[in-house]
Amino acid sequence: MRFPAEPFRIKVVEPLRRVTREERERRIREAGLNIFAVSADSIYVDLLTDSGTAAMSDNQWAGMMLGDESYAGSRNYFAFEEAVHSIFGYRHVIPTHQGRVAENLLFSTVLKRGDIVPNNIHFDTTRANVEHQGAEAVDLVIDEGLDPVADHPFKGNLDPAKLERLLAEKRDRVPLVMLTITNNSGGGQPVSMANVRATHEVCRRHGVPLIFDACRFAENCWFIQQREPGYANRAVAEIARELFALGDGCTMSAKKDGLVNIGGFLALENAAWAEKVTNLLILIEGFSTYGGLAGRDLEAMARGLREVLNEDYLAFRIGQVAELGRLLDAAGVPIVKPVGGHAVYIDAKRMLPHIPQAEFPGQALVVALYREFGIRAVEVGSLMFGHRDPATDEMVFPRLELVRLAVPRRVYTTEHMRYVAESVIELFRRREQLEGLRITYEAPVLRHFTARLEEVGRGATPAPAKPGRKVASGAAP
Ligand SMILES: Cc1ncc(COP(=O)(O)O)c(C=O)c1O
Repeated sequence: MRFPAEPFRIKVVEPLRRVTREERERRIREAGLNIFAVSADSIYVDLLTDSGTAAMSDNQWAGMMLGDESYAGSRNYFAFEEAVHSIFGYRHVIPTHQGRVAENLLFSTVLKRGDIVPNNIHFDTTRANVEHQGAEAVDLVIDEGLDPVADHPFKGNLDPAKLERLLAEKRDRVPLVMLTITNNSGGGQPVSMANVRATHEVCRRHGVPLIFDACRFAENCWFIQQREPGYANRAVAEIARELFALGDGCTMSAKKDGLVNIGGFLALENAAWAEKVTNLLILIEGFSTYGGLAGRDLEAMARGLREVLNEDYLAFRIGQVAELGRLLDAAGVPIVKPVGGHAVYIDAKRMLPHIPQAEFPGQALVVALYREFGIRAVEVGSLMFGHRDPATDEMVFPRLELVRLAVPRRVYTTEHMRYVAESVIELFRRREQLEGLRITYEAPVLRHFTARLEEVGRGATPAPAKPGRKVASGAAP
């Protein structure tokens, strides 16, 4: 046994429908080769995201039946507030219906046009919410964090020297520093306690608050326990308290390490910020003791936040993701290493070198995984991030061309993961048969959600697609 077996037994089951290859072929074609447009009931193993997809425990469901749906002062809010106080320690606890609202409330309150927000790597919604205020989102991850094969135990670390330089020059424009644990956009890589401390020191010297993006805090603290000298005998809950004591607040999407399907919060030490945020919350989300959620959701979140710190659960959770990575790596499938907390990332550029980035190798792999095996993954590469340089009109491609297999929490068994590994390995063996794609329609922003594509003959040059337009099939060159 390479990792602990499931530390739970299954009390409720949700049947999975297996559709035929012909039906999958029809559905993916109707979807314009875009996996976001395929209905979930035709998917066998859905690894699109680990966000909001967790299975809740019997304890959480029991809590839902104790929902107090009072408009103000619901008892579930107080249970939730107590859970947040005991784990995160911050004084002011503001519930929201998901993480990006916590980001929006915080940045609307503290940022102004021209400000700068440093982070290890901003998650998409964090970056978008910073930029929405006319501010600049700056990524300061260590260099190893951008190298898919660098073997470093804490590739999510922020580079304190880069932060020091930025603050020395532009302190006046930096109202806060963010630190994302684990670093989702860098492959779910953890941040070490030593790095949190170093970041805290730089922030303190310059008098700048440090705010965590805490979506996967328990997974991050598990990695600290497992990998960082001096923490092997410390409980994950204790490690979390030590870590959060080095900051001034956090944003949280509880759809990850809150083990719920909806929920989030903002927790702050600064009373003046909390007051402004609360007033805005009441304007756009709801009263301060429910923040866009039902009482029962708050109860499920309160219980989930405590459950996620269970170390049998974390050993299984991180072990299950690592095992999927190990199986792929052992068969020679190129993946980002070391494997992060919530997902395995396949390096599509290395797996499919015959498909140029202009022909979306990552998306070609995503399509093949669904068509052949009913598995849904997501492309994190040139379809998601490729864009035209406004100055030169040339296409700019991202450095990495990845396919993410994100594992929902407590949902799939070890056998499901083996099925996924065998499927990917089978495609790896026949990788030369996979063809590149070209876009036939794309929206001006966030095109990956709604783009439509078709296969190109191998060797053909794809039509250069301009944003927001239909692209004629087979258009020159
Ligand atoms: C690191 C990180 N921050 C913020 C968010 C946004 O959370 P939500 O989807 O709940 O708005 C996510 C969601 O995936 C995330 O991974």
